[in-house]
Amino acid sequence: MFDTNNKVIEEGRQGEALTLESQQPAANGKKLFLESYGCQMNFSDSEIVASILSDKGYSTTPDYNEADIILINTCAIRENAEQRVRGRLREFNYIKRKNPSLIIGVMGCMAERLKSQFLEEEKIVDIVVGPDAYRDLPALIETVEGGQKAVNVLLSREETYADISPIRLDSNGVTAFISIMRGCDNMCSFCVVPFTRGRERSRDPESIVREAHELFENGYREVTLLGQNVDSYKFTPHPLAPSPNGEGGHGIAVTFANLLERVALVNPELRIRFSTSNPQDMTDDVLYVVAKYENICKYIHLPVQSGNSEVLERMNRGYTREWYLNRIAAIRKIIPGCGVSTDMMTGFCGETEEQHKETVSMMEEVKYDFSYLFKYSERPGTLAQRKYADDIPEETKLRRLQEVIALQQKHSAEKVKEAVGKVHRVLIEGTSKKSEEMFFGRNTQNTVVVFPKMNFKKGEYVDVLADNCSATTLIGKAVSAHKIK
Ligand code: 5AD
Ligand code: SF4
Repeated sequence: MFDTNNKVIEEGRQGEALTLESQQPAANGKKLFLESYGCQMNFSDSEIVASILSDKGYSTTPDYNEADIILINTCAIRENAEQRVRGRLREFNYIKRKNPSLIIGVMGCMAERLKSQFLEEEKIVDIVVGPDAYRDLPALIETVEGGQKAVNVLLSREETYADISPIRLDSNGVTAFISIMRGCDNMCSFCVVPFTRGRERSRDPESIVREAHELFENGYREVTLLGQNVDSYKFTPHPLAPSPNGEGGHGIAVTFANLLERVALVNPELRIRFSTSNPQDMTDDVLYVVAKYENICKYIHLPVQSGNSEVLERMNRGYTREWYLNRIAAIRKIIPGCGVSTDMMTGFCGETEEQHKETVSMMEEVKYDFSYLFKYSERPGTLAQRKYADDIPEETKLRRLQEVIALQQKHSAEKVKEAVGKVHRVLIEGTSKKSEEMFFGRNTQNTVVVFPKMNFKKGEYVDVLADNCSATTLIGKAVSAHKIK
């Protein structure tokens, strides 16, 4: 979960660097090796890219030695995320020397940030493609096959890939992501995302609900609605568009609360999660919808970044410590027992020891179930880089990071212990990594639960009595299968 080298984001919530695999018929015999770094959104984008290229006859392969094209979906959020990609490109250099016709493309946030400069810095790269230009990939590949390098990093105000059915890659067949919006308008001063993913735009709710239905029909039992700031989801249909349930028709805007409700109604056996909420924009409406539907998971990821109002102001977060605590109080009141996690960073520009202590006291006050903890990494072109000195020494950033990591480990362990002795409804995701005889799944609060398989099957709901735990996982026995309806 935590790593003092600041590797957390690539291996925690933001997903492990994964090689993606699917069973697609090879129509042109060409093979694509696709590797993703960064957030869930990037993983979701890779599924869109697999779909676009599958339409052109490409099948995916887990073995880059047999690939005709290698695509790396990159992250730019911290410097070390970029260094990992550069390291990987050096490894691919070796196979390209053996196979000169191999095409190597970089996509995603680092591609967008560096643009054609990437081609100069990394000679083995043939294609640079930004997050809004994936439809152009077949043409970019053709350009490279014609002997030239190819770049498309145009950002769009409209692109949501709403009409593309993602190819589910590396899937457990039970849980899937649905991207509901793209881009970000928040302009947090530390963050590169507004520059790499462009302006915020929301996807048509009809296409989102359709995708959720299709997933359910194909056996999936959990969807995570993804956006950089889901609370600002807003889609205004055409004034003449029909209204399925009274909302949204006649040009009336569909909000995130409306959307959540529509997806919850797809089927009571389909669990819904969402990420990421924003303290500035999270309304009580959304909390009431979460409370109302049993199939919407009682878990909210609410990044705080810092516990000090002055630092929050420099971060341009748009809220104070008090506001944030008020949002936490609303969650606790409206959704009792809700799991809460956060993102925080240590050593932001000008952060004093007292200000850091306020982050620590925020943690004490909220007692997060889980946190993604980072040290500040200055990103070129951001507001913070232009306006403030990155003046906290590396060892201070690290020491503060270690402090918050230790505290979070203590809190997480306490939270897991509190859940022992209770019955948890678990959606079975697959066999536990530690034992062939055990299944693993999650409870509504997103805590991993492992238990003996008995006669249960992946994708089923089961009530598990937790009788033991490790530092982060509940261990128990199934007390009954749970049939919803
Ligand atoms: N340095 C360190 N962490 C960052 N994050 C975003 N930008 C930076 C940066 N420049 C963290 C924030 C965000 C999470 C996705 O990554 O905590 O919520
Ligand atoms: Fe995701 Fe942000 Fe990394 Fe882009 S920079 S891949 S949006 S975490």
